[in-house]
Amino acid sequence: MSKHFGELTALDNVDLTVYEREVVAILGRSGSGKSTLVRCVDQLEEIDSGAIYLDGELLGYERTSSGLRTLSDSARRIQRRRMSMVFQQFNLFPHWTVLRNVTEAPMVAHGLSRADARRRGLELLERVGLSDKTHAYPRQLSGGQQQRVAIARAVAVEPRVLLFDEPTSALDPELVDEVLRTMQDLAVSGRTMMVVTHELEFARQVSDRCIFMADGRIVEDRPSQEFFEDPQSEELRTFLARSSHQSSRASA
Ligand SMILES: Nc1ncnc2c1ncn2[C@@H]1O[C@H](COP(=O)(O)OP(=O)(O)O)[C@@H](O)[C@H]1O
Ligand SMILES: [Mg+2]
Repeated sequence: MSKHFGELTALDNVDLTVYEREVVAILGRSGSGKSTLVRCVDQLEEIDSGAIYLDGELLGYERTSSGLRTLSDSARRIQRRRMSMVFQQFNLFPHWTVLRNVTEAPMVAHGLSRADARRRGLELLERVGLSDKTHAYPRQLSGGQQQRVAIARAVAVEPRVLLFDEPTSALDPELVDEVLRTMQDLAVSGRTMMVVTHELEFARQVSDRCIFMADGRIVEDRPSQEFFEDPQSEELRTFLARSSHQSSRASA
C-alpha cells in the first residue's frame, strides 16, 4: 500500500504480511512512517493505493462489478472492532473508573452483558496487576499503571490484532519495564501483535520478526535474531549503532 500527505510520501509501496500469533516489531527513525503504517492498518488513515486484508477480508472497501467501493462508516466500524490500538498517550476516559474504561467497549460495541464484561474486565485487570485499582480513576494512577489499563482495555474486545504505537515512549524510564512485561505476557500467550517501539531489547527478545522502515519504505523485514545480529543495510547498521549508544547513555 501507499499513503501520501499532500506531496509527502508517508508509505511507499509497503508490502507486509503478519501471521497469526506473530509479534512484529516496527523500528525506524522518527518520520519514517511507522505510525502511519499501524494507523492505516487500524483504518484511522485512508490509503491511496493498495489493499489491507484481515483474515482474508478486504478492509475499508467492497468489491463491486464496477470496481472498489468505500464501505459505509458503520461497516467500517464493524471491521475495526477486530483490531485494537494502544497509543503513546493512553487515551483513557478520565471521568470513568478503571473498570469502566475496560468494560465499556465490550458491552457497547461487542454486545457483552454487563456481568460478562465485568468478569472479563476483572480478569484482565488482575492479569495486568491492577486488581486493587478497579475503582480508581485514571488520574489517580501512575503513567505505567494507566498504560496497563489501556492494554487491558485493548485486549478486552478480544481483537484479532493488537497494534501498539510507541506504548512506552511517554513513560518515565522507571515505569517502562512494567508495561513491557505486560506486553511480553500477551506475546507469550499467543496474541498477534504489531508493535512500533524504540525498545530494542524488547524487539530483540519478544518479537518474532523485526521491520526497519526508512522514508516510508520497509528496508528490512527479518526474524529478530538475524535482524540484530546481521543487519543487511547500511541504514539499519547505523540505526542500531546509534540507538544502542543512546540507550547505554540513558542507563548510565
Ligand atoms: N496527518 C499528517 N499530515 C501530514 N503529514 C503527516 C501526517 N501524519 C504523518 N505525516 C508525515 O508522514 C511522515 C511519516 O510520519 P509517521 O508515520 O508519523 O512517522 P513515525 O511514526 O515513523 O515517526 C512524516 O514525514 C510525517 O511528518
Ligand atoms: Mg510515530
